Order: sequence, then C-alpha cells, then structure tokens
Amino acid sequence: MARFSTRAILAATHSPEVAQTPSAVPIYQAAAFSADDAAELGEVLTGARSGYAYSRIDNPTTAALAAAIADLEGAESGLSFATGMAAIHAAIVSNVHAGQTVVATQALYGTTRDLLARVLAGLGISTVFVDPTDLAAVDAALARTGAPVLYVETVSNPTIVVSDIGALAGIAHARGALLLVDNTFASPYACRPIEWGADLVMHSATKYLSGHADVLAGVVVGSHQRIDALRPILVDVGGALAPLAAFLVLRGLPTLALRMERHSETALDLAAWLTGQDGVERVYYPGLPDDPGHEVARRQLDVFGGMLAFELSGGREAGRAFLDAMRIAERTASLGAVRTITTHPPSTTHRQLDEVALAATGIAPGLLRCSVGLEDVEDLREDFELGLNAARAVGAAK
Ligand SMILES: Cc1ncc(COP(=O)(O)O)c(C=O)c1O
Repeated sequence: MARFSTRAILAATHSPEVAQTPSAVPIYQAAAFSADDAAELGEVLTGARSGYAYSRIDNPTTAALAAAIADLEGAESGLSFATGMAAIHAAIVSNVHAGQTVVATQALYGTTRDLLARVLAGLGISTVFVDPTDLAAVDAALARTGAPVLYVETVSNPTIVVSDIGALAGIAHARGALLLVDNTFASPYACRPIEWGADLVMHSATKYLSGHADVLAGVVVGSHQRIDALRPILVDVGGALAPLAAFLVLRGLPTLALRMERHSETALDLAAWLTGQDGVERVYYPGLPDDPGHEVARRQLDVFGGMLAFELSGGREAGRAFLDAMRIAERTASLGAVRTITTHPPSTTHRQLDEVALAATGIAPGLLRCSVGLEDVEDLREDFELGLNAARAVGAAK
C-alpha cells in the first residue's frame, strides 16, 4: 500500500465518473489532463486525436464558452481568451503580417487603437484609420493599401457610431480583405455580424455577455478554418481564459436577452429625455429617429442597445461636474453591467489621446458615455438630473 503523501495526492486528484448531465457546465479547474498512455498524450498534443492535455491549449469549460458564443453568433467555431484585448490581438495578428496594413475605423475603443497604432506598428504592421460611415473612403483605403483586414466595431466606443456591416463586408471582400468586427457593444442578441458577411467576430465577454462586472474574458468566433488559424496565437502567446472565468461568463448568457431588452428600453427613455435638456449639446443613441446611425441600426440591430453618449455644452469641466454629482451611476471605465456606468472618455478610456487625436475620433471635451444598467428608469433620470444641474452650475459660474 502506498504511503500517506502518495495516497493523499492520488485520492485528491481522482475525478468522479459522472454519467448524468450537470445543470451547469463544470469548472474544470485543472492545469493539465493526463492520458492513459504516452501514445494518447502525443496524439492529443499534436491534434491527431481530440482531447485535452494542457489548459493553455484547450480546456473543457473555456471550450464550452467558445462553443456557446459561436452558437449565439451563428458561427461554426470559437476560441476563448483571457480578455477582449487578447481576443482582438489574436484575430488581427493571425491575418496580417509585417509590412502589411490594417484599415480600421477611426471610432474605436482606445486600447484597440493603441494596439494597432503602437504595439503592431512597432512590429511593422501599419494602420490607416477611416470613417466607417464613409464607404467610399473605406474602399479607397483598402484599394490604396492592399490591406488584408478591415477592422470595425458594430457600434463604436465611445461615440456610438453604427457601422453598416453588410456594406462593409461587400467592400472588404471585393478588395480581397477580411472583415473583422468587434461586436462587444451590440452583443449577439442585438446583432450577429456573421449573418451580414463578417469573417471574424470578437467580444470583450467582460461586458454584456457576462453582464455582472465580475470577470475578464474574450472570445473570437468564425469559420472552422479561420478559428483553427487563430489557435497557434492562443497557444504560443498564452492569453488563455481561466476555467472559473469561463464559468462566470456562461452563467451570464441565459439572461442576455432579458438584460439587453431592459438595457435598450431604459437607454431609449434616457436618450429621449436628455435630448433638448438645457446644457446638452447633442445625444448619440441609434434608437433616436434623427441619429445618423438610425437607419442602419433599424436594419442591422434587433434592439438599439444600452450604450448612449451625450455632449455637454460646458466642455471638460461640465463633464467632470456631471460625473461627480451622480449618486447611482458608477464612475468607472467598464460597461455592459447590471449597474449603470458613466464615463468621461477624455479623462478615462481615451486619456492616452492628445487633443488632436481626440478631435479626430469625434470626441468632444464634454462627451459623457453611459452604459445604461438595469436600475429603475425613474431613479436614473433623477441621477441624470443631479448631473445636469451640477454641469449647469459650472457653466453659470464661468
Ligand atoms: C468595444 C471594446 N472592445 C474591446 C474591449 C477590451 O476588452 P477587455 O477589457 O475584456 O480586454 C473593450 C473594453 O472596454 C471594449 O469596450
């Protein structure tokens, strides 16, 4: 009989056989999976046989998450990553080489812009930024650069610009480029870019997919062939998702539809209320009939989503005063959670941009971005009123 330490190790690592299906995907919190013999391990590691060997390469819980999101997006396959940025990085670098160019929307999440303009630029991949609503400019940029990738966001961060995925897919494919779409703001409940011709769809699952602001995660979905091409980036760079994190995102998915309906309903109410308020210069929300993205959004989005933005006439100081006065909304940089989050991009998510770069992305100094949560709309309106009063007081004191 083995001695105590050996028995403790063997006893504690003996997995139960479970014939019945659990009601939630189990958290396979294991770094590695052992094979019955060397031949099996070799075959699993080289991909000759399906199975699990090491959780950076594959893990049942993270694979279940990727498969679930691929299903919701109408894609053949998917891969999970530690964060949205790891997913976006993998999707881009698996399709572009040094010496080539990416054409990307200029209305873009600040860190994605940094990835392109700083990290990938340092590796010899350049980026041309274009207005995604100017289809002729997108086509001209693709023709001029021969870019293999067109990169857009379904609904952009932070100015809520809606990209016409169908039209952009047509233009990209006619120029021999792939269309990569960050679908974080819309979620697959509002939009499924693959149905409109996108080749790869990325998510920060940190946001609406998980929905509770308690996890970081990313996913890429697409065809089997394109997802297989991404796998070496996951394995060699190592941005693998933790099994517990995958479980937390999976737990959010069953309520995604309910949450997106409520986020959208409340956001439309607030956007309409903000429009025309004293001190509010402009409201950006695709659900408003006179929003420039309204027509595309009506075609492409099943709900208008929970993200809105508005510009205060009092500029940077008014933006800061509005933020500081709110009592319900969280002052933080994330989005897509049950609680309302308000940010002032010029001093948070886009702080890395100087004034010129900020103006180029269409961000005014008094721009506030709001991720509308699931609170009662009357309470949120009162909170916005507090913010507006504070912003107006700043203007009056000038
Ligand atoms: C549109 C968009 N894409 C990607 C990301 C990056 O996601 P993560 O923080 O999970 O890396 C964010 C984060 O805010 C985002 O807003």
